[in-house]
Amino acid sequence: PLPLVVDTDPGIDDAMAILWAASEPDVRIAALTTVFGNVRTDQATRNALRLLEWAGVDAPVAEGARTPLVLPPFTPSAHVHGAEGFGPIPAEAPAGAPVAEGAADLIVRECAAGATLCPVGPLTNVAAALRRSPGLSGAEIVVMGGAVFVPGNITPHAEANIYHDPHAAAEVFASGAKVRLVGLDVTNGILMDRSDMARLAERAPRLGGRIAEMADFYIDFYESVGLSGCALHDPAAVIACLRPELFDWEETPLRVVTQGEEAGRTVAGGEGPPVLVARGCDAPRIREIWMEGIARLD
Ligand code: BDR
Ligand code: CA
Repeated sequence: PLPLVVDTDPGIDDAMAILWAASEPDVRIAALTTVFGNVRTDQATRNALRLLEWAGVDAPVAEGARTPLVLPPFTPSAHVHGAEGFGPIPAEAPAGAPVAEGAADLIVRECAAGATLCPVGPLTNVAAALRRSPGLSGAEIVVMGGAVFVPGNITPHAEANIYHDPHAAAEVFASGAKVRLVGLDVTNGILMDRSDMARLAERAPRLGGRIAEMADFYIDFYESVGLSGCALHDPAAVIACLRPELFDWEETPLRVVTQGEEAGRTVAGGEGPPVLVARGCDAPRIREIWMEGIARLD
């Protein structure tokens, strides 16, 4: 199976991604590393531990950055993922604890040992890891983030993961590392509505039911911005690690706007090393693969 490190800020769709990875026989979760974003880093760490406990997976959780590289610290907004990250699910303390090793060191070590890295939060830990180990031993880095050819979600110009640490994202894309970008360009088209979630809860009462409860909260947000369901942002990136052929990739250098009104915008073209940007995908198949995994895990 593919050894995978998921760098994450759980988060409802992060939970959907990690539970899918736990379900998939061709993936081995080598570790989870945590970052601020949907919640603060300490809460992200607790949530990562809880997800592994829900899934019955034994893997280390390493805590990462608490603040962006350059921007000042910020307080996560509770309206998308809830105050504790899992919508209406009450925060309970995990049984386990994070390892002593920090996120960036763990990423460097696991990538050297052959892991694929899937960052689904702000790219602060990834930038730190690349400073220590340029190229990360040639590891594949499959990022959920960016909105290259479509509008943003946190501002008209920016997608949330890039917006929360644009300097880190700029470093990662300019690094020459092997980067694929799974952004809103494709994830906005991979939607699950309330009836999909009800079917999932029926097929998989325990974990599917819990996901459906979280999704109910998440979909409230999506409806407030005119969409009829929630997007499988982070699951799409994790699925892309294993099944890149389900996406159409365009090779292009990528620049990130770090200041001003358009801060966090991802811009294709220009100078710099190429990355692979997902421009299309087989959305029905990705939805199906995700649902099958969750049902299997239950
Ligand atoms: C991304 O931002 C976060 O809120 C989600 O978990 C996802 O990683 C989508 O823009
Ligand atoms: Ca996320």
